[in-house]
Amino acid sequence: NLKVAVMGGGSSYTPELVEGFIKNHSVFPVRDLYLVDIEPGRQKLETVGNLAKRMIEKAGVPINLHLTFDRREAIEGADFITTQMRIGMLDARSRDEKIPLKYGLIGQETTGAGGFAKALRTVPVVLDIAKDIKELAPDAFMINFTNPAGIVTEAVLKYSGIRTMGLCNLPIGTRMQIAKLCEVDVSKVDIEMFGINHLNWTTRIVVDGVDITSNVLNKAAGASGLTMKNIPDFGWDAEFLQSVGALPCGYHRYYYMKDKAFEDMNKKFLEKGTTRADDVKKVEAELFELYKDPNLAIKPPQLEQRGGAYYSEAAVNLIKSIYNNTRDIQTVNVRNNGIIPFLPDDVSVEVNCVIDSQGAHPVQIASPISPQIRGLLQVVKAYEELAVKAAAEGDYLAGLQALTIHPLVGTAELAKKLLDEIISANKEYLPQF
Ligand code: G6P
Ligand code: MN
Repeated sequence: NLKVAVMGGGSSYTPELVEGFIKNHSVFPVRDLYLVDIEPGRQKLETVGNLAKRMIEKAGVPINLHLTFDRREAIEGADFITTQMRIGMLDARSRDEKIPLKYGLIGQETTGAGGFAKALRTVPVVLDIAKDIKELAPDAFMINFTNPAGIVTEAVLKYSGIRTMGLCNLPIGTRMQIAKLCEVDVSKVDIEMFGINHLNWTTRIVVDGVDITSNVLNKAAGASGLTMKNIPDFGWDAEFLQSVGALPCGYHRYYYMKDKAFEDMNKKFLEKGTTRADDVKKVEAELFELYKDPNLAIKPPQLEQRGGAYYSEAAVNLIKSIYNNTRDIQTVNVRNNGIIPFLPDDVSVEVNCVIDSQGAHPVQIASPISPQIRGLLQVVKAYEELAVKAAAEGDYLAGLQALTIHPLVGTAELAKKLLDEIISANKEYLPQF
């Protein structure tokens, strides 16, 4: 009797996930699906829950849908627990994006100081959930989507004894983008991808058994569409791509094109006073209006305006491969264990893994890692380790170093100002400080 519990079930993204469970019911026959939320999210949970019910009824699959505010009831005896909540909701995200902008820095949900703020709010909640899982469903897998997914996953790996993996739609999105660029079916595209969440490189691209990496790097130069909806679609310079020797991910624009990315978001902020979170609020309001329509019984296509489009494919692919012991390769966030040799064993990394019923097993990286990749990866991973410590233990000094060494912050003075402002703006969400 397969049981799945979704933390943050009232999310506007939930119809994605429900669609995935419906489509894959023959290979992943979930019997009980629990959508869990907190009381302030009651309306959202009810609206999304009713749409999910209509979707399930229309598809005629035998899934029992449960809407609940009782997290422990949902977790008890579950086989899979997914997390997709946003602590403080979009208002907190909007603050995360605006505080850094004030200091002339990139203001982004997961990258840089914004992601640090999100980590401080999120890690305590996720560690609480992990405690419940340890007690009530010790054999379950927790599949974590909650951002910043790399930091959150690392906190769970380090501070709780449960089985967990972090998951993002970026790897599957990258394969789709490459398939489109090369005009081939996505099922034919295999990639070697490694790094950390929202900072990974695609170092090898194989189509039908043929290595087409350099061909793709040529095609990628100046091309549009090599990113997700939440990141500006600036094309990569041809010579620069050659010098990296790999395909950067969407989020690399915040590092490699820092000035341009800052200018773009700052201009919008100065002119309209808004950031991505404010745009997303509007899209969400429209989505929830659509969800209320009693005649709607499918995932509305408008959901594809969101950066997290297709995350259900990633989610359901992963869960069904664990359940069916499939042993196929997927890119997920797991404990490093030496796969990236210059990083500690106990940190989270986003790498290709063989997925079986025991979990995710990293695949050896084929070639030596270049200094240009190693350098950036090492510093941002070190930032994440410090952010994990700050968020899990309320360690102010770790937080100060985290922000100081982050390439998108970079000075002690800025780091201190940001840290103090982030802590005071998020007081109600930071029991650890
Ligand atoms: C990407 C990331 C997700 C993130 C999303 C934000 O897809 O992989 O981790 O949550 O973008 O999209 P949004 O539409 O909320 O800005
Ligand atoms: Mn992501």
